[in-house]
Amino acid sequence: MNPSRPPLVAGNWKMHPASVELAVSLAVNVRDAVAGLAARSVVCPPTIWLSTVAAAIGGGSTEPGRLAIGAQTVHAEEAGPYTGETSPLMVAEVAQYVILGHSERRQNDNETDAAVATKVASAVVHRLVPIAAIGERADERRAGLTATVIERQLRAAISRLPRIAGSGLVVAYEPVWAIGTGDAASGEDAQAAAAQIRSILAESDPGGAAEVAILYGGSCTPDNAAEFFAEPDVDGALVGGASLDAASFAQIVQLAVEARG
Ligand code: 13P
Repeated sequence: MNPSRPPLVAGNWKMHPASVELAVSLAVNVRDAVAGLAARSVVCPPTIWLSTVAAAIGGGSTEPGRLAIGAQTVHAEEAGPYTGETSPLMVAEVAQYVILGHSERRQNDNETDAAVATKVASAVVHRLVPIAAIGERADERRAGLTATVIERQLRAAISRLPRIAGSGLVVAYEPVWAIGTGDAASGEDAQAAAAQIRSILAESDPGGAAEVAILYGGSCTPDNAAEFFAEPDVDGALVGGASLDAASFAQIVQLAVEARG
């Protein structure tokens, strides 16, 4: 954690919880548990509940100590014949953040590097903070391709952004082999990836690179989060499973605040 950047902890609820009532109560409990903590906290519910959850918490806010709302994906276009999709104009009415390029969407929905690039640029135009998710699969890691994959996915994700500074860009390093497996990366691995990400961003925009929050994601829990937050280029976490429990999520936010010093 670098004291010049406020911590950011985002919860990716994926296709959970089981009902809108549970989603509302989870969001309200998270809002109350993170209130006043000096970090940016975000919950990313399923698209169908974005409005309800936003209303339940009194509207999301990007202010530290308040809870913001994020979508889990968005379409790049504002309108058109895109059955089943959600426009960034629609999402921006109720959310402040959007996760883009999550590995589950790359794997299951054929989201390509090129699509992620278009969506990241569109999100920024529509005043949504993009959380661009990148990370290598287990086979790529075994083949020694971690840095190659990070570089390819990151360069693509920012390729349509006119500039990094002021874009609000957030990058999440989520090694695919660590997601939902209980086999988190080490703090050292996360720092190596985060430092590589920051140095690639700095090639075109050193000032902008220093502003970007870089998150670690993959089996992050209250038991291991401090290890990631102790690293100088890791500014927070993108949390899956542990974000479905308000107390666990808030504990991770608290650890981020403590790590900033
Ligand atoms: P887990 O924390 O459940 O491993 O999920 C991580 C993730 O994919 C967040 O986007």
